[in-house]
Amino acid sequence: MLRVASLPGDGIGPEVCGAAVRVLDALPIDVAVEEHPFGGHAIHERGDPLPAETLAACRAADAVLLGAAGLPEFDGAPVRPEQGLIRLRGELDVYANLRPARSNGIDLLIVRELVGGLYFGASGRRADGSAFDTCEYSPAEIERIGRRAFELARGRRSFVTSVDKANVLETSRLWREVVSGLAGDYPDVRLEHMLVDNAGMQLVLDPAQFDVILTENTFGDILSDVAAGSCGGLGVAASASLGELGPGIFEPVHGSAPDIAGRGIANPTGALRSVALLLRFAAGEHELADRLEQAVDTALTKAPTRDVGGTATTAEFTDTVLSVGLW
Ligand code: NAD
Ligand code: IPM
Ligand code: MN
Repeated sequence: MLRVASLPGDGIGPEVCGAAVRVLDALPIDVAVEEHPFGGHAIHERGDPLPAETLAACRAADAVLLGAAGLPEFDGAPVRPEQGLIRLRGELDVYANLRPARSNGIDLLIVRELVGGLYFGASGRRADGSAFDTCEYSPAEIERIGRRAFELARGRRSFVTSVDKANVLETSRLWREVVSGLAGDYPDVRLEHMLVDNAGMQLVLDPAQFDVILTENTFGDILSDVAAGSCGGLGVAASASLGELGPGIFEPVHGSAPDIAGRGIANPTGALRSVALLLRFAAGEHELADRLEQAVDTALTKAPTRDVGGTATTAEFTDTVLSVGLW
């Protein structure tokens, strides 16, 4: 029995998670999905975007399926829904965020460090009105994500591009040192370093050159949206966030999309591809994951949603996935 904690969250989160749960329920595996409050509505109901019961349920599950956190009404509020997501990632120590991007000729994997850097450093306001965020990385934090990237590259085209800003930032110079030091343990994997500004440009101009992109938290956040933009947009991008042991988090790369929320037109591809990643990494169901990915690819051709040039609703897209899926 695969126990999945579902945290639909805000905006289109419940719409795409609903599609994901429909598909999970239709698969020939024994799954139990339990839904838990998270994000903006958890702030309204409990004053906390990640209530203690939700965190406990995530720890006890085999995998966490997540929709999105964040709503414009919380801009400027003392507690934001996104804080719940960042805290959940930290609590589960899911340091390896895998963000694949695939499309004609493009097949790359961004391996983003997820529990360090600016997102977890000291930050605040000072009496003089200034604000600060700090970026810190230890060699151990860089080493564990670096090893993940090299190992994942071995199952692909054995090429890692480590992205940093070593011409300016001390954390990036340490990043480059540590990653270069690991390369000797993976002589079969080619390693290159690239500065992040150039990497952004290369992802637009020639994304097919990349296999695995290894990078720190903030750069990975930005570059994964750029990569998604080169592969059909945010509606189709999926992610898996993994630690050593314990449950991973599986979530689309996109946010709550307040501009289209509540209309039933969100593209559930990112969420469904995240379910495929869940099958792969949390259940070891590789063949089922392949089949789901194929069914989603077919649905993208047969019944595309508006963001990818079609007219299908979220429900119609999901119906198509269920009708073409061979499992
Ligand atoms: P967004 O990803 O929500 O939306 C960006 C654009 O992409 C919008 O035009 C939206 O309509 C479109 N889009 C996104 N997903 C789509 C889908 N599945 N189908 C069709 N179109 C889709 O990013 P944003 O507008 O910058 O952020 C909105 C809120 O979401 C913010 O509060 C932000 O913090 C939050 N956010 C949360 C997550 C997360 O929970 N993992 C990720 C990103 C942003
Ligand atoms: C993402 C999101 C999050 C991030 C936000 C909502 C905290 O943009 O998952 O890419 O920056 O990691
Ligand atoms: Mn992001």
